[in-house]
Amino acid sequence: MVDKRTGAADMDRTALRRHLPSLPFVAALAVLLAIGAAFFIYLGIYNIAADEPHTPVVYSVLESLRNRSIETHARGITPPADLGSAQRISTGAGLYAEMCSGCHLGPGVEKSEMSQGLYPQAPELATARGLTPAQQFWIIKHGVKLSAMPAWGRTHPDPLIWDMVAFIRKLPGMSPEQYKAVVASAPADHDTMMKDMPGMK
Ligand code: HEC
Repeated sequence: MVDKRTGAADMDRTALRRHLPSLPFVAALAVLLAIGAAFFIYLGIYNIAADEPHTPVVYSVLESLRNRSIETHARGITPPADLGSAQRISTGAGLYAEMCSGCHLGPGVEKSEMSQGLYPQAPELATARGLTPAQQFWIIKHGVKLSAMPAWGRTHPDPLIWDMVAFIRKLPGMSPEQYKAVVASAPADHDTMMKDMPGMK
């Protein structure tokens, strides 16, 4: 006597197995793909030039990689309570005008030769992009691989990086006159600010 229920299940399983590719086939396919990818890289087919945009697939993969990485790494960073203080904003304005405006421009700042040649382009920070202060802090401190965004944390202590965050959060909507005024209000020159920082020469 054949058990009807298990008999049917056995038949289902055999039918399913017949439709699935075999394990050696899948393994061979994976090896072939890996060899193909290695050759693609070795032969230098992909154009890494900054004056030629990524293909849409590469662009969207890199963009997701970047966005997810920033979201994950910025978790747990808490902004200081005085992020909106006038002193932080004016210190940040001085640092920004000196170190960042060549790439990120600013209200009334003309495009530079450097900013026009960048790929990916440095976003104009005067246009709000929806990043949190913690994410902006993380990007400024650590930089972004495969882009021209440097890691400023190598040379600047956290309090100065928060000053820059404080300033760039005020940038959207700022007029060229307001920009000039706040940059002019920056307390001291860069070297003096750095000397006041603990742990910095
Ligand atoms: C040499 C050019 C260059 C300089 C100088 C530079 N950046 Fe950037 N920055 C970039 C590029 C390019 C990106 C875009 C990176 C990307 O696409 O992931 C970027 C991204 C950023 C972002 C993320 C913006 C967003 O909304 O996605 C912030 C914030 C930022 N920079 C702040 C700064 C600050 C503050 C300074 C000065 C201390 C600075 N950058 C100096 C090139 C530069």
